[in-house]
Amino acid sequence: MCGIIGYIGKNENTEETIINNLKKLEYRGYDSSGICLFDNDEFYVHKSLGEIKNLYKNLNTKIKSNCGIAHTRWATHGKVSILNTHPHLSFDKIWCVVHNGIIENYLDLKKELLEKNIKVCGETDTEVVANLLCLHKGSVLEAIEKTIKILKGSFAFCIMNKNEKNTLFLARKNSPLYVAKSAKEVLASSDPVCFGEKFEDYYALPENSICVAKKDEIVFYDFNLKEIKVKKTKVTVFEKNASKGNYNYFAEKEIDEIPHVLNNIITSYSSTNYFEKIDHEYLKDINSIKLIGCGTAYHACLMGAKFIQEKTSMECSAHIASEFSYSNPKINKNTLCIFCSQSGETADTLLCLKLAKQNKAKIISLVNVPHSSIARGSNIVLPLCAGMEIAVISTKAYNAMLFVFYMLSLHMYNTKKFKNIDIIKKLKKLNKTNFFYNLNYIDDISNVVLKSEKVFFIGRGEDYVSALEAGLKLKEITYINCVSLPSGELKHGTLSLVDSKSLVFVIATKKELLSKNLASASEIKSRGGNIILVTNLNVDEENLQDVDFVYHFYKSPEELSSMLCIVPFQMLAVKTCLKLGYSPDKPRNLAKSVTVE
Ligand code: AGP
Ligand code: GLU
Repeated sequence: MCGIIGYIGKNENTEETIINNLKKLEYRGYDSSGICLFDNDEFYVHKSLGEIKNLYKNLNTKIKSNCGIAHTRWATHGKVSILNTHPHLSFDKIWCVVHNGIIENYLDLKKELLEKNIKVCGETDTEVVANLLCLHKGSVLEAIEKTIKILKGSFAFCIMNKNEKNTLFLARKNSPLYVAKSAKEVLASSDPVCFGEKFEDYYALPENSICVAKKDEIVFYDFNLKEIKVKKTKVTVFEKNASKGNYNYFAEKEIDEIPHVLNNIITSYSSTNYFEKIDHEYLKDINSIKLIGCGTAYHACLMGAKFIQEKTSMECSAHIASEFSYSNPKINKNTLCIFCSQSGETADTLLCLKLAKQNKAKIISLVNVPHSSIARGSNIVLPLCAGMEIAVISTKAYNAMLFVFYMLSLHMYNTKKFKNIDIIKKLKKLNKTNFFYNLNYIDDISNVVLKSEKVFFIGRGEDYVSALEAGLKLKEITYINCVSLPSGELKHGTLSLVDSKSLVFVIATKKELLSKNLASASEIKSRGGNIILVTNLNVDEENLQDVDFVYHFYKSPEELSSMLCIVPFQMLAVKTCLKLGYSPDKPRNLAKSVTVE
């Protein structure tokens, strides 16, 4: 969520370098942006609302600076306004701060400032921090140390001080921050995607650390100012692969990449045994398995729980992270908590991970972004191998989550039941399928969606999970209000909404549930609803009299069908979104990685 850039370089093009890097963070979602260039002992601050191109438009390009910081804000405290946009200066104009995260005790701290006659003009929590920094005597580093010690909440800060030229001060707690150095320049960023172009390696600031970055050296400290060693991380294809190529939108590119993601997983898991540590000893005492995630990752957990429970007969449940942490969950050393996250930075999920650790649970994580906070906090990481996902709607990462959960369920089956199923071979079956079969119908279907007043997605079992994910995709980027529910629940309330202006997608991929699904279709038809059956089963014509259209996706072994069935819905959401003139990459009000609770 939101973005931070800090830069030390040469005198030329500093503002351009900073803004180009800020643009690489656009995908994370933001509502305003700002930059501060440090020039001739002055801070030159410039801010704008809306897109980064507005920031560039009115920037004074005459400024010769070789050091600056910038920010894309996703407002959490205070409205979207120029006053609240970062960077924030302290009242004495000595400090300049950008911040990602939330300072929970900022109101108390604001009061303390007021008591000292220091007036904070804006509404953000960040501006309070900029002003707190001036209160401390001693070195710049000591002032930072003393200030962050009184902060509650989460933060990644990039700070400049007027008395320390060509220096970036960084600090992090519960919010990611990275820094890289070459012979000529230093770049700090809240996302390593910025390092792909020019750097060989970078440092990830450890949790609860401060960093002083200059052109000649980068030094790390803990929150007591004890120097700490931090290992470098190599820049990989992952960071390098962040361009749209020939596509208009990342969302389109990322859906097209699904078969490659499958191949990546097969190649990567064939060469490394990521499941090695999940052996008989590891699973022996586990009496409960909890899968935890948010949004699309939560839907993947719902599916994963079904896979694992079916294969191992172990008690397995899926949980929404933001609900889980406050539900007083029963977790102990016999609990296995499996976290699932594309970004690896989702605050709600991270909080649950900490809770699981405190309660000594066993922890496995399915994560796409290597070296992310969730990946670093887990003893066993199952990589999703999906490559960078930039569009806010998660598409290829969802498929990757299902592929990896499926493999994990087979591995657990092998281990628990002393079987020897070839996991890779099973997944390879999907390799022979066509993920994009019959997609030419999607255009017409999206016209029907646009004509309908109400849209519903229904299914049973795994198909209900697909209904949830299909509905989330559609509402997320088209802003069409739709409802997803288990087929059996229709008659318990929601059927009252169905009329002749309703479109109902009935998802049916399991033979044994087909007749039940068709019965739900009849209930809808009797109320005048329009029905599209989405299936890969052979259905006799005579059973289809209540169905208006059958969308067939590619036939696959039944247990793999959920991995294929979502693709047409992802495409449908993108197509409909484009027809409405919206961007599928950047839906309103949303951010790619949600690093605040
Ligand atoms: C999906 O399309 C959403 N943008 C959102 O639900 C997302 O899946 C959720 O915020 C979790 O993110 P994560 O996978 O990075 O943890
Ligand atoms: N809490 C800060 C604000 O509202 C930072 C938000 C962000 O992470 O962008 O300005």
